[in-house]
Amino acid sequence: MAAGSGIEVEGLVREFKGGLRAVDGVSLRVSPGEIYGFLGPNGAGKSTTVLMLTTLLPITAGTATVAGFDVARQGPLVRSAIGAALQEAALDPYLTGTEHVRLQAALHGMPRKEGRRRGDELLERVGLVEAAGRKVGGYSGGMKRRLDLALALLHGPEVLFLDEPTTGLDPQSRQALWEEVSRLATDEGVTVFLTTQYLEEADALADRIGIIDDGKIVAEDTPKALKAQIGRPSVEAVPQEPAEQEKMAEVLGRFGSPVAAPSGAVAVRLEHGAGELAEVVRALDGAGMGVSSLRLDEPTLDDVFLEKTGRSLEGEGEDAAEEAPA
Ligand SMILES: Nc1ncnc2c1ncn2[C@@H]1O[C@H](COP(=O)(O)OP(=O)(O)O)[C@@H](O)[C@H]1O
Ligand SMILES: [Mg+2]
Repeated sequence: MAAGSGIEVEGLVREFKGGLRAVDGVSLRVSPGEIYGFLGPNGAGKSTTVLMLTTLLPITAGTATVAGFDVARQGPLVRSAIGAALQEAALDPYLTGTEHVRLQAALHGMPRKEGRRRGDELLERVGLVEAAGRKVGGYSGGMKRRLDLALALLHGPEVLFLDEPTTGLDPQSRQALWEEVSRLATDEGVTVFLTTQYLEEADALADRIGIIDDGKIVAEDTPKALKAQIGRPSVEAVPQEPAEQEKMAEVLGRFGSPVAAPSGAVAVRLEHGAGELAEVVRALDGAGMGVSSLRLDEPTLDDVFLEKTGRSLEGEGEDAAEEAPA
């Protein structure tokens, strides 16, 4: 890629003391204006990758360019081209929202008048006009995330890094943030590198997804193509008699291999696709089994994750929403 506002990473490695390879040979490209979702469980290496790409952590091996600048050799140029809202937002509880944006504008060397105009505009865009005069210590989790996003956007970055921007947010704040991130990419051509442990978030927001596990990318494509790789739907059934779960597993097992199912239910990935459903019903009937529910599920990103890693991402790291009313 020529100098542009994308991201190009080749064989990126970060080894911590003791030899732990938190990031173990990651290669990826993000095109200008694209939203790239970096999806993986806790400890997968997402934040370590973001810290290297934002020049906050030295790389052990490999190369990375961000907005056309080399992260190892052109740190100041990288930093002027990017904005970052990191997992641990560095907000001062004793400063107000307005004071934060003004301070940030000054740090970027923006002229006072322009800094004020831009700061007010961003506070409005993230819905913090009314709270702007209040100290950040009294903000809810969602308000802090929104302020952190405004600070990251103040100088009009070409590339935006968001490290788990919606972890712990209530569904409404999450939706608002998704909308703003989509708008930035679509209307302003901002390149977005976003980490998440939420399948739903990656699915809804990202143009392309890289699934990271244990420091390595195990799958990468558009959400649609990733799900299509799995291809076949699964069938999930609940026996009328809870004691018959094992028998149900045996009958369904004739049609495909087992996949994760909620407690009380049995599910298999259909070996020959949805057309088999009628035969499944006949087989259950033939075995004299009562069925209290039966449904067909299209493949999800969790199926992709499960197939690539042998584990399920669903339900892992589900933090309770911590948002308090503003
Ligand atoms: N400063 C550090 N020193 C040693 N190990 C670290 C450090 N930062 C992260 N790690 C380890 O590196 C791995 C990846 O961490 P991280 O990048 O934070 O994962 P994620 O953001 O995907 O949850 C984890 O095993 C974590 O414990
Ligand atoms: Mg992290």
